[in-house]
Amino acid sequence: MGTFFLTTAIDYANAGPHLGHAYEKVLADVIARHRRSVGDDVFFLTGTDEHGQKIQQSAERAGRSPREFVNENSALFQDLCRRLEISHNRFVRTTDPGHVAKVQGWLQQLFDAGLIYKAEYEGFYSVRQEQFVTEKEMVDGVWPEIYGEVVRLSEANYYFKLSEFAGKLKAHVEKHPDWILPRFRRDDVLRFLDRPLGDLCISRPVARLSWGIPLPFDAGYVTYVWFDALANYATFATDEQGMDRWPADLHVIGKDILIPAHAIYWPCMLLGLGLPLPRQLLVHGWWQSEGAKMSKSTGNVVDPLSLIDRYGADAFRYFVMREMHVGYDADFTVAQFHARYQADLGNTLGNLVNRTISMINRYREAVIPEAQLDGAMLQARQEAFLEYESRMGSFEVSFALEALWKFAYRANQYVDQTAPWKLAKDPANADALNAVLGTLAVAVRFLMDAIAPVMPSTAGRIALQLGVPARTGSFVLVGLETEGSLAGTKVGAAEPLFPRIELADPS
Ligand code: MSP
Repeated sequence: MGTFFLTTAIDYANAGPHLGHAYEKVLADVIARHRRSVGDDVFFLTGTDEHGQKIQQSAERAGRSPREFVNENSALFQDLCRRLEISHNRFVRTTDPGHVAKVQGWLQQLFDAGLIYKAEYEGFYSVRQEQFVTEKEMVDGVWPEIYGEVVRLSEANYYFKLSEFAGKLKAHVEKHPDWILPRFRRDDVLRFLDRPLGDLCISRPVARLSWGIPLPFDAGYVTYVWFDALANYATFATDEQGMDRWPADLHVIGKDILIPAHAIYWPCMLLGLGLPLPRQLLVHGWWQSEGAKMSKSTGNVVDPLSLIDRYGADAFRYFVMREMHVGYDADFTVAQFHARYQADLGNTLGNLVNRTISMINRYREAVIPEAQLDGAMLQARQEAFLEYESRMGSFEVSFALEALWKFAYRANQYVDQTAPWKLAKDPANADALNAVLGTLAVAVRFLMDAIAPVMPSTAGRIALQLGVPARTGSFVLVGLETEGSLAGTKVGAAEPLFPRIELADPS
Protein backbone atom coordinates (compact mmCIF):
# COMPACT_ATOMS: atom_id res chain seq x y z
CA MET A 1 0.00 0.00 0.00
CA GLY A 2 1.25 3.42 -0.83
CA THR A 3 0.31 6.61 -2.55
CA PHE A 4 -0.13 7.05 -6.27
CA PHE A 5 -0.43 10.38 -8.09
CA LEU A 6 -1.40 10.34 -11.75
CA THR A 7 -2.44 12.91 -14.32
CA THR A 8 -3.84 13.15 -17.84
CA ALA A 9 -2.90 15.81 -20.36
CA ILE A 10 -5.14 18.85 -19.98
CA ASP A 11 -7.30 19.31 -23.06
CA TYR A 12 -7.49 22.49 -25.09
CA ALA A 13 -10.73 24.24 -24.23
CA ASN A 14 -11.16 25.49 -27.80
CA ALA A 15 -13.87 22.97 -28.75
CA GLY A 16 -15.74 20.04 -27.24
CA PRO A 17 -14.17 16.66 -26.48
CA HIS A 18 -13.81 13.76 -28.91
CA LEU A 19 -12.93 10.09 -28.66
CA GLY A 20 -9.18 10.72 -28.20
CA HIS A 21 -9.81 12.86 -25.12
CA ALA A 22 -12.30 10.38 -23.73
CA TYR A 23 -9.88 7.50 -24.25
CA GLU A 24 -7.08 9.16 -22.33
CA LYS A 25 -9.36 9.90 -19.39
CA VAL A 26 -10.66 6.34 -19.29
CA LEU A 27 -7.14 4.91 -19.45
CA ALA A 28 -5.99 7.06 -16.55
CA ASP A 29 -9.19 6.31 -14.64
CA VAL A 30 -8.74 2.55 -15.04
CA ILE A 31 -5.22 2.84 -13.67
CA ALA A 32 -6.47 5.04 -10.80
CA ARG A 33 -9.27 2.63 -9.90
CA HIS A 34 -6.97 -0.36 -10.14
CA ARG A 35 -4.45 1.27 -7.82
CA ARG A 36 -7.23 2.03 -5.35
CA SER A 37 -8.30 -1.62 -5.55
CA VAL A 38 -4.86 -2.69 -4.36
CA GLY A 39 -5.13 -0.29 -1.46
CA ASP A 40 -3.22 2.76 -2.72
CA ASP A 41 -4.15 6.27 -1.69
CA VAL A 42 -4.65 7.69 -5.20
CA PHE A 43 -4.55 11.33 -6.28
CA PHE A 44 -5.74 11.88 -9.84
CA LEU A 45 -5.77 15.10 -11.89
CA THR A 46 -7.40 15.91 -15.20
CA GLY A 47 -8.62 19.19 -16.66
CA THR A 48 -8.54 21.84 -19.36
CA ASP A 49 -5.80 23.99 -20.89
CA GLU A 50 -7.36 27.41 -21.29
CA HIS A 51 -4.80 30.00 -22.41
CA GLY A 52 -2.91 30.68 -25.62
CA GLN A 53 -3.28 31.71 -29.18
CA LYS A 54 -5.44 28.79 -30.27
CA ILE A 55 -8.03 29.64 -27.66
CA GLN A 56 -7.85 33.37 -28.34
CA GLN A 57 -8.35 32.80 -32.07
CA SER A 58 -11.17 30.29 -31.68
CA ALA A 59 -12.95 32.60 -29.24
CA GLU A 60 -12.64 35.49 -31.69
CA ARG A 61 -14.05 33.35 -34.47
CA ALA A 62 -16.95 32.34 -32.23
CA GLY A 63 -17.55 36.00 -31.35
CA ARG A 64 -17.02 35.36 -27.64
CA SER A 65 -14.67 36.66 -25.01
CA PRO A 66 -11.95 34.11 -24.28
CA ARG A 67 -13.19 33.74 -20.72
CA GLU A 68 -16.78 32.96 -21.70
CA PHE A 69 -15.49 30.68 -24.39
CA VAL A 70 -13.28 28.57 -22.09
CA ASN A 71 -15.98 28.44 -19.44
CA GLU A 72 -18.35 26.87 -21.94
CA ASN A 73 -15.83 24.43 -23.37
CA SER A 74 -14.38 23.44 -20.03
CA ALA A 75 -17.93 22.62 -18.90
CA LEU A 76 -18.18 20.17 -21.82
CA PHE A 77 -15.05 18.35 -20.65
CA GLN A 78 -16.29 18.29 -17.07
CA ASP A 79 -19.57 16.86 -18.29
CA LEU A 80 -17.70 14.20 -20.25
CA CYS A 81 -15.86 13.20 -17.08
CA ARG A 82 -19.15 12.82 -15.24
CA ARG A 83 -20.67 10.80 -18.03
CA LEU A 84 -17.63 8.54 -18.22
CA GLU A 85 -17.54 8.12 -14.42
CA ILE A 86 -14.00 9.44 -14.22
CA SER A 87 -12.88 9.39 -10.58
CA HIS A 88 -10.46 12.33 -10.59
CA ASN A 89 -9.76 14.21 -7.36
CA ARG A 90 -9.36 17.66 -8.91
CA PHE A 91 -10.36 19.17 -12.21
CA VAL A 92 -7.61 21.51 -13.37
CA ARG A 93 -8.40 24.81 -15.10
CA THR A 94 -5.38 26.88 -16.03
CA THR A 95 -7.38 30.10 -15.70
CA ASP A 96 -7.63 29.36 -11.95
CA PRO A 97 -6.12 32.35 -10.08
CA GLY A 98 -4.11 30.08 -7.76
CA HIS A 99 -2.45 28.44 -10.77
CA VAL A 100 -1.74 31.82 -12.37
CA ALA A 101 -0.06 33.08 -9.20
CA LYS A 102 2.10 29.97 -8.86
CA VAL A 103 3.20 30.07 -12.50
CA GLN A 104 4.19 33.70 -12.04
CA GLY A 105 6.15 32.77 -8.94
CA TRP A 106 8.05 30.15 -10.91
CA LEU A 107 8.77 32.49 -13.79
CA GLN A 108 10.18 35.00 -11.32
CA GLN A 109 12.27 32.31 -9.64
CA LEU A 110 13.77 31.22 -12.97
CA PHE A 111 14.34 34.83 -13.99
CA ASP A 112 16.09 35.62 -10.69
CA ALA A 113 18.26 32.53 -11.12
CA GLY A 114 19.39 33.83 -14.53
CA LEU A 115 17.70 30.97 -16.35
CA ILE A 116 15.40 33.30 -18.30
CA TYR A 117 16.93 36.00 -20.53
CA LYS A 118 15.73 38.41 -23.24
CA ALA A 119 16.87 38.24 -26.88
CA GLU A 120 15.85 39.26 -30.40
CA TYR A 121 14.96 36.46 -32.77
CA GLU A 122 13.88 36.25 -36.35
CA GLY A 123 12.48 33.07 -37.80
CA PHE A 124 9.55 30.94 -38.86
CA TYR A 125 6.61 30.71 -36.51
CA SER A 126 3.92 28.01 -36.46
CA VAL A 127 0.59 29.54 -35.55
CA ARG A 128 -0.96 26.18 -34.74
CA GLN A 129 1.89 24.95 -32.54
CA GLU A 130 2.46 28.44 -31.15
CA GLN A 131 6.21 28.12 -31.47
CA PHE A 132 9.11 29.11 -33.67
CA VAL A 133 10.16 26.36 -36.06
CA THR A 134 13.24 25.92 -38.21
CA GLU A 135 13.67 24.80 -41.79
CA LYS A 136 14.96 21.49 -40.46
CA GLU A 137 11.35 20.67 -39.64
CA MET A 138 10.31 20.93 -43.31
CA VAL A 139 9.61 17.76 -45.27
CA ASP A 140 10.28 17.95 -49.01
CA GLY A 141 10.28 21.73 -48.83
CA VAL A 142 6.88 22.07 -47.11
CA TRP A 143 5.86 22.41 -43.50
CA PRO A 144 4.24 19.24 -42.17
CA GLU A 145 0.52 19.52 -41.52
CA ILE A 146 0.99 19.55 -37.73
CA TYR A 147 2.45 23.07 -37.97
CA GLY A 148 -0.57 24.59 -39.75
CA GLU A 149 0.12 28.10 -41.05
CA VAL A 150 3.82 29.08 -40.78
CA VAL A 151 4.77 32.77 -40.95
CA ARG A 152 8.04 34.79 -40.74
CA LEU A 153 8.39 36.76 -37.58
CA SER A 154 11.00 38.91 -35.85
CA GLU A 155 10.62 39.86 -32.22
CA ALA A 156 12.29 40.36 -28.86
CA ASN A 157 11.33 37.64 -26.45
CA TYR A 158 12.28 35.89 -23.26
CA TYR A 159 14.09 32.58 -23.42
CA PHE A 160 14.42 29.74 -20.95
CA LYS A 161 17.89 28.14 -20.89
CA LEU A 162 16.86 24.63 -21.89
CA SER A 163 20.37 24.02 -23.18
CA GLU A 164 21.72 24.11 -19.61
CA PHE A 165 19.82 20.95 -18.72
CA ALA A 166 20.39 18.76 -21.78
CA GLY A 167 23.17 16.75 -20.14
CA LYS A 168 21.29 16.16 -16.90
CA LEU A 169 18.15 15.19 -18.75
CA LYS A 170 19.93 12.76 -21.02
CA ALA A 171 21.62 11.14 -18.03
CA HIS A 172 18.22 10.77 -16.38
CA VAL A 173 16.63 9.13 -19.41
CA GLU A 174 19.59 6.78 -19.79
CA LYS A 175 19.59 5.83 -16.14
CA HIS A 176 15.84 5.11 -16.01
CA PRO A 177 14.92 2.75 -18.84
CA ASP A 178 11.26 2.69 -17.74
CA TRP A 179 10.86 6.42 -17.35
CA ILE A 180 8.95 6.53 -20.64
CA LEU A 181 6.65 3.67 -21.62
CA PRO A 182 6.47 2.03 -24.11
CA ARG A 183 10.22 1.72 -24.49
CA PHE A 184 10.33 2.61 -28.18
CA ARG A 185 9.11 6.08 -27.26
CA ARG A 186 12.08 6.48 -24.93
CA ASP A 187 14.39 5.67 -27.82
CA ASP A 188 12.82 8.55 -29.76
CA VAL A 189 13.60 10.87 -26.84
CA LEU A 190 17.22 9.71 -26.65
CA ARG A 191 17.61 10.31 -30.39
CA PHE A 192 16.16 13.78 -29.96
CA LEU A 193 18.65 14.49 -27.18
CA ASP A 194 21.55 13.52 -29.42
CA ARG A 195 21.14 16.88 -31.12
CA PRO A 196 21.99 20.08 -29.23
CA LEU A 197 19.00 21.66 -27.48
CA GLY A 198 18.18 25.26 -28.35
CA ASP A 199 16.75 27.53 -25.67
CA LEU A 200 12.99 27.80 -25.42
CA CYS A 201 11.10 31.00 -26.19
CA ILE A 202 8.70 31.32 -23.25
CA SER A 203 7.05 34.67 -23.97
CA ARG A 204 4.61 36.19 -26.43
CA PRO A 205 4.22 39.96 -26.84
CA VAL A 206 0.85 41.13 -25.52
CA ALA A 207 0.23 42.93 -28.82
CA ARG A 208 -0.01 39.53 -30.51
CA LEU A 209 -1.41 37.45 -27.68
CA SER A 210 -3.15 38.85 -24.65
CA TRP A 211 -4.89 35.69 -23.43
CA GLY A 212 -2.17 34.27 -21.21
CA ILE A 213 -0.37 34.64 -17.90
CA PRO A 214 1.53 37.98 -17.75
CA LEU A 215 5.28 37.72 -17.13
CA PRO A 216 5.81 39.07 -13.60
CA PHE A 217 8.97 40.91 -14.69
CA ASP A 218 7.66 42.43 -17.96
CA ALA A 219 4.01 43.41 -18.42
CA GLY A 220 4.53 43.63 -22.19
CA TYR A 221 4.46 39.83 -22.44
CA VAL A 222 2.43 36.77 -21.49
CA THR A 223 3.99 33.36 -21.05
CA TYR A 224 4.04 30.66 -23.71
CA VAL A 225 1.00 28.41 -23.27
CA TRP A 226 3.02 25.21 -22.81
CA PHE A 227 4.97 26.76 -19.97
CA ASP A 228 1.68 27.56 -18.27
CA ALA A 229 0.00 24.23 -19.17
CA LEU A 230 2.80 21.87 -18.13
CA ALA A 231 3.04 23.61 -14.79
CA ASN A 232 -0.50 22.43 -13.95
CA TYR A 233 0.73 19.03 -12.86
CA ALA A 234 2.55 20.59 -9.94
CA THR A 235 0.47 23.72 -9.29
CA PHE A 236 -2.64 21.56 -8.73
CA ALA A 237 -0.83 18.83 -6.81
CA THR A 238 -2.32 19.84 -3.46
CA ASP A 239 -4.78 17.19 -2.28
CA GLU A 240 -7.96 17.46 -0.19
CA GLN A 241 -5.90 17.35 3.01
CA GLY A 242 -3.70 20.22 1.85
CA MET A 243 -0.73 17.94 1.18
CA ASP A 244 1.54 18.65 -1.79
CA ARG A 245 1.70 15.38 -3.74
CA TRP A 246 4.38 16.34 -6.25
CA PRO A 247 6.17 14.48 -7.90
CA ALA A 248 3.58 12.63 -9.96
CA ASP A 249 3.99 8.88 -10.28
CA LEU A 250 2.55 8.84 -13.78
CA HIS A 251 1.71 11.27 -16.57
CA VAL A 252 -0.66 9.72 -19.10
CA ILE A 253 -0.28 11.52 -22.45
CA GLY A 254 -0.66 10.98 -26.19
CA LYS A 255 2.31 10.45 -28.49
CA ASP A 256 1.98 13.89 -30.13
CA ILE A 257 2.86 15.72 -26.93
CA LEU A 258 5.81 13.65 -25.73
CA ILE A 259 8.57 15.40 -27.72
CA PRO A 260 9.36 18.14 -27.00
CA ALA A 261 6.70 19.17 -24.46
CA HIS A 262 6.69 16.39 -21.87
CA ALA A 263 10.05 14.73 -22.41
CA ILE A 264 12.11 17.92 -22.82
CA TYR A 265 10.44 21.17 -21.74
CA TRP A 266 8.74 19.87 -18.62
CA PRO A 267 11.69 18.02 -17.05
CA CYS A 268 14.00 20.97 -17.85
CA MET A 269 11.55 23.38 -16.21
CA LEU A 270 11.52 21.17 -13.13
CA LEU A 271 15.30 20.89 -13.09
CA GLY A 272 15.52 24.68 -13.31
CA LEU A 273 13.09 25.04 -10.41
CA GLY A 274 14.91 22.44 -8.33
CA LEU A 275 11.85 20.19 -8.22
CA PRO A 276 11.87 16.40 -8.64
CA LEU A 277 10.93 14.90 -12.00
CA PRO A 278 7.76 12.85 -12.55
CA ARG A 279 8.42 9.14 -11.99
CA GLN A 280 6.99 7.80 -15.24
CA LEU A 281 5.31 8.80 -18.51
CA LEU A 282 2.83 6.50 -20.22
CA VAL A 283 2.46 7.43 -23.87
CA HIS A 284 -0.57 6.20 -25.77
CA GLY A 285 -1.21 6.17 -29.51
CA TRP A 286 -3.91 7.78 -31.60
CA TRP A 287 -7.42 6.81 -32.40
CA GLN A 288 -7.73 7.01 -36.11
CA SER A 289 -10.62 7.08 -38.43
CA GLU A 290 -9.74 5.20 -41.58
CA GLY A 291 -6.03 5.72 -41.06
CA ALA A 292 -6.08 9.46 -40.26
CA LYS A 293 -5.69 10.92 -36.77
CA MET A 294 -9.00 11.90 -35.32
CA SER A 295 -8.79 15.61 -34.64
CA LYS A 296 -10.89 18.70 -34.49
CA SER A 297 -9.02 20.26 -37.39
CA THR A 298 -9.66 17.36 -39.79
CA GLY A 299 -13.27 17.02 -38.68
CA ASN A 300 -13.31 13.19 -38.63
CA VAL A 301 -14.18 13.03 -34.96
CA VAL A 302 -16.28 10.48 -33.12
CA ASP A 303 -18.52 11.96 -30.45
CA PRO A 304 -18.09 9.83 -27.33
CA LEU A 305 -21.35 11.11 -25.84
CA SER A 306 -23.48 9.64 -28.59
CA LEU A 307 -21.88 6.22 -28.02
CA ILE A 308 -22.37 6.54 -24.26
CA ASP A 309 -26.03 7.48 -24.80
CA ARG A 310 -26.60 4.45 -26.93
CA TYR A 311 -24.47 1.78 -25.26
CA GLY A 312 -23.72 3.11 -21.78
CA ALA A 313 -20.49 4.39 -20.22
CA ASP A 314 -19.22 0.94 -19.29
CA ALA A 315 -19.54 -0.43 -22.82
CA PHE A 316 -17.64 2.60 -24.07
CA ARG A 317 -14.93 2.20 -21.44
CA TYR A 318 -14.63 -1.51 -22.19
CA PHE A 319 -14.36 -0.97 -25.92
CA VAL A 320 -11.65 1.66 -25.84
CA MET A 321 -9.61 -0.30 -23.30
CA ARG A 322 -9.99 -3.60 -25.14
CA GLU A 323 -9.52 -2.39 -28.69
CA MET A 324 -6.42 -0.22 -28.35
CA HIS A 325 -3.15 -1.73 -27.12
CA VAL A 326 -1.68 1.03 -24.97
CA GLY A 327 1.04 2.80 -26.92
CA TYR A 328 -0.18 1.85 -30.40
CA ASP A 329 -2.70 3.41 -32.76
CA ALA A 330 -6.13 1.89 -33.36
CA ASP A 331 -8.85 2.44 -35.89
CA PHE A 332 -12.33 3.28 -34.71
CA THR A 333 -15.44 1.98 -36.42
CA VAL A 334 -18.97 1.84 -35.07
CA ALA A 335 -19.33 -1.67 -36.54
CA GLN A 336 -16.40 -2.92 -34.45
CA PHE A 337 -17.79 -1.22 -31.37
CA HIS A 338 -21.12 -2.88 -31.92
CA ALA A 339 -19.54 -6.26 -32.61
CA ARG A 340 -17.65 -6.19 -29.32
CA TYR A 341 -20.74 -5.05 -27.47
CA GLN A 342 -22.61 -8.09 -28.72
CA ALA A 343 -19.86 -10.68 -28.59
CA ASP A 344 -17.70 -9.77 -25.60
CA LEU A 345 -20.25 -8.07 -23.41
CA GLY A 346 -23.59 -9.64 -24.36
CA ASN A 347 -22.70 -13.16 -25.39
CA THR A 348 -19.72 -13.76 -23.13
CA LEU A 349 -19.79 -11.81 -19.86
CA GLY A 350 -23.51 -10.99 -19.84
CA ASN A 351 -24.48 -14.54 -20.75
CA LEU A 352 -22.22 -16.08 -18.10
CA VAL A 353 -23.64 -13.90 -15.33
CA ASN A 354 -27.18 -14.38 -16.55
CA ARG A 355 -27.04 -18.16 -16.73
CA THR A 356 -25.26 -18.42 -13.38
CA ILE A 357 -27.79 -16.30 -11.52
CA SER A 358 -30.78 -17.83 -13.33
CA MET A 359 -29.70 -21.39 -12.58
CA ILE A 360 -29.03 -20.68 -8.91
CA ASN A 361 -32.51 -19.17 -8.74
CA ARG A 362 -34.13 -22.00 -10.61
CA TYR A 363 -32.33 -25.03 -9.15
CA ARG A 364 -31.33 -23.92 -5.65
CA GLU A 365 -34.05 -21.48 -4.62
CA ALA A 366 -31.68 -18.56 -5.10
CA VAL A 367 -29.09 -19.76 -2.55
CA ILE A 368 -25.50 -20.54 -3.59
CA PRO A 369 -24.93 -24.16 -2.51
CA GLU A 370 -22.13 -25.60 -0.39
CA ALA A 371 -19.95 -27.47 -2.86
CA GLN A 372 -16.63 -28.97 -3.80
CA LEU A 373 -15.42 -26.49 -6.45
CA ASP A 374 -14.04 -27.63 -9.78
CA GLY A 375 -10.22 -27.84 -9.60
CA ALA A 376 -9.54 -27.13 -13.27
CA MET A 377 -11.75 -24.04 -13.21
CA LEU A 378 -10.07 -22.77 -10.05
CA GLN A 379 -6.74 -23.29 -11.73
CA ALA A 380 -7.90 -21.36 -14.82
CA ARG A 381 -9.14 -18.58 -12.58
CA GLN A 382 -5.80 -18.40 -10.80
CA GLU A 383 -3.96 -18.15 -14.12
CA ALA A 384 -6.32 -15.43 -15.34
CA PHE A 385 -5.80 -13.55 -12.09
CA LEU A 386 -2.00 -13.65 -12.33
CA GLU A 387 -1.99 -12.58 -15.96
CA TYR A 388 -4.45 -9.81 -15.20
CA GLU A 389 -2.41 -8.47 -12.30
CA SER A 390 0.83 -8.55 -14.23
CA ARG A 391 -0.69 -6.81 -17.27
CA MET A 392 -2.43 -4.17 -15.17
CA GLY A 393 0.87 -3.56 -13.37
CA SER A 394 2.50 -2.66 -16.67
CA PHE A 395 -0.55 -0.66 -17.88
CA GLU A 396 -1.32 -3.19 -20.63
CA VAL A 397 -5.04 -2.98 -20.04
CA SER A 398 -6.11 -4.59 -23.32
CA PHE A 399 -4.13 -7.73 -22.47
CA ALA A 400 -5.45 -7.77 -18.91
CA LEU A 401 -8.97 -7.78 -20.36
CA GLU A 402 -8.03 -10.44 -22.85
CA ALA A 403 -7.01 -12.72 -19.97
CA LEU A 404 -10.34 -12.10 -18.21
CA TRP A 405 -12.36 -12.78 -21.34
CA LYS A 406 -10.47 -15.97 -22.02
CA PHE A 407 -11.53 -17.10 -18.59
CA ALA A 408 -15.15 -15.97 -19.08
CA TYR A 409 -15.24 -17.84 -22.36
CA ARG A 410 -13.91 -20.92 -20.63
CA ALA A 411 -16.54 -20.59 -17.89
CA ASN A 412 -19.28 -20.55 -20.52
CA GLN A 413 -17.79 -23.69 -22.06
CA TYR A 414 -17.83 -25.28 -18.62
CA VAL A 415 -21.56 -24.62 -18.44
CA ASP A 416 -22.10 -26.14 -21.88
CA GLN A 417 -20.01 -29.20 -21.02
CA THR A 418 -21.48 -29.88 -17.59
CA ALA A 419 -25.06 -29.14 -18.81
CA PRO A 420 -26.56 -28.29 -15.40
CA TRP A 421 -30.09 -28.42 -16.89
CA LYS A 422 -29.51 -32.15 -17.43
CA LEU A 423 -28.00 -32.68 -13.98
CA ALA A 424 -31.04 -30.96 -12.45
CA LYS A 425 -33.36 -33.64 -13.78
CA ASP A 426 -32.05 -36.31 -11.36
CA PRO A 427 -31.67 -35.67 -7.60
CA ALA A 428 -28.83 -38.24 -7.59
CA ASN A 429 -26.72 -35.58 -9.31
CA ALA A 430 -27.23 -33.02 -6.55
CA ASP A 431 -23.54 -32.85 -5.58
CA ALA A 432 -22.43 -32.49 -9.18
CA LEU A 433 -24.95 -29.71 -9.74
CA ASN A 434 -23.83 -27.97 -6.54
CA ALA A 435 -20.23 -28.12 -7.76
CA VAL A 436 -21.14 -26.48 -11.06
CA LEU A 437 -23.23 -23.73 -9.49
CA GLY A 438 -20.72 -23.02 -6.71
CA THR A 439 -17.86 -22.91 -9.21
CA LEU A 440 -19.76 -20.53 -11.47
CA ALA A 441 -20.60 -18.24 -8.56
CA VAL A 442 -16.92 -17.79 -7.66
CA ALA A 443 -16.03 -17.37 -11.33
CA VAL A 444 -18.56 -14.56 -11.60
CA ARG A 445 -17.31 -12.95 -8.40
CA PHE A 446 -13.75 -12.99 -9.69
CA LEU A 447 -14.80 -11.36 -12.97
CA MET A 448 -16.88 -8.81 -11.09
CA ASP A 449 -13.86 -7.73 -9.03
CA ALA A 450 -11.43 -7.76 -11.90
CA ILE A 451 -13.56 -5.77 -14.36
CA ALA A 452 -14.43 -3.14 -11.74
CA PRO A 453 -11.70 -0.63 -12.74
CA VAL A 454 -12.86 -0.77 -16.35
CA MET A 455 -16.61 -1.21 -15.82
CA PRO A 456 -17.46 0.13 -12.38
CA SER A 457 -21.27 0.22 -12.84
CA THR A 458 -21.39 -3.27 -14.30
CA ALA A 459 -19.37 -4.58 -11.35
CA GLY A 460 -21.93 -2.97 -9.03
CA ARG A 461 -24.84 -4.54 -10.94
CA ILE A 462 -23.19 -7.96 -10.82
CA ALA A 463 -22.67 -7.54 -7.07
CA LEU A 464 -26.42 -6.93 -6.64
CA GLN A 465 -27.34 -9.99 -8.67
CA LEU A 466 -24.80 -12.17 -6.89
CA GLY A 467 -25.95 -10.90 -3.50
CA VAL A 468 -22.49 -9.79 -2.37
CA PRO A 469 -21.26 -6.32 -1.44
CA ALA A 470 -19.37 -4.51 -4.20
CA ARG A 471 -15.71 -4.62 -3.27
CA THR A 472 -14.47 -1.23 -2.15
CA GLY A 473 -10.78 -2.02 -2.31
CA SER A 474 -7.97 -4.47 -1.58
CA PHE A 475 -9.03 -7.07 -4.12
CA VAL A 476 -5.50 -8.32 -4.43
CA LEU A 477 -4.72 -8.19 -0.76
CA VAL A 478 -7.70 -10.39 0.00
CA GLY A 479 -6.33 -12.76 -2.63
CA LEU A 480 -8.08 -15.65 -4.29
CA GLU A 481 -7.14 -18.33 -1.78
CA THR A 482 -8.34 -16.51 1.28
CA GLU A 483 -11.56 -15.04 -0.11
CA GLY A 484 -14.56 -16.46 1.74
CA SER A 485 -16.81 -19.14 0.30
CA LEU A 486 -20.03 -17.91 -1.23
CA ALA A 487 -22.06 -20.86 0.08
CA GLY A 488 -25.29 -19.71 1.70
CA THR A 489 -25.36 -16.37 -0.13
CA LYS A 490 -28.79 -15.46 -1.44
CA VAL A 491 -28.59 -14.22 -5.00
CA GLY A 492 -30.84 -11.56 -6.53
CA ALA A 493 -32.93 -11.79 -9.69
CA ALA A 494 -31.14 -12.30 -13.02
CA GLU A 495 -31.25 -9.09 -15.07
CA PRO A 496 -29.61 -8.83 -18.48
CA LEU A 497 -26.48 -6.68 -18.17
CA PHE A 498 -26.12 -5.78 -21.83
CA PRO A 499 -29.50 -5.74 -23.58
CA ARG A 500 -29.56 -6.17 -27.33
CA ILE A 501 -29.17 -2.94 -29.25
CA GLU A 502 -29.68 -2.49 -32.96
CA LEU A 503 -26.63 -1.32 -34.88
CA ALA A 504 -26.97 2.42 -35.48
CA ASP A 505 -27.83 3.38 -39.03
CA PRO A 506 -24.59 5.00 -40.22
CA SER A 507 -26.45 7.61 -42.29
N1 MSP B 1 -3.42 21.12 -24.21
C1 MSP B 1 -2.43 20.22 -24.71
C2 MSP B 1 -1.89 19.34 -23.60
C3 MSP B 1 -1.28 20.06 -22.44
S1 MSP B 1 -0.74 18.94 -21.22
C4 MSP B 1 0.10 19.87 -20.15
C5 MSP B 1 -3.07 19.32 -25.77
N2 MSP B 1 -4.42 19.27 -25.77
S2 MSP B 1 -5.28 18.37 -26.80
O1 MSP B 1 -6.65 18.65 -26.47
O2 MSP B 1 -4.87 18.62 -28.15
O3 MSP B 1 -4.92 16.88 -26.50
C6 MSP B 1 -5.12 16.36 -25.20
C7 MSP B 1 -4.75 14.89 -25.16
O4 MSP B 1 -5.62 14.17 -26.03
C8 MSP B 1 -3.32 14.62 -25.63
O5 MSP B 1 -2.67 13.68 -24.79
C9 MSP B 1 -3.52 14.04 -27.01
O6 MSP B 1 -2.52 13.12 -27.39
C10 MSP B 1 -4.85 13.33 -26.83
N3 MSP B 1 -5.49 13.12 -28.13
C11 MSP B 1 -5.96 14.08 -28.99
N4 MSP B 1 -6.38 13.45 -30.13
C12 MSP B 1 -6.15 12.11 -30.03
C13 MSP B 1 -6.54 10.99 -30.78
N5 MSP B 1 -7.10 11.07 -31.96
N6 MSP B 1 -6.34 9.77 -30.22
C14 MSP B 1 -5.88 9.62 -28.94
N7 MSP B 1 -5.54 10.65 -28.21
C15 MSP B 1 -5.35 11.90 -28.83
O7 MSP B 1 -2.34 18.70 -26.52
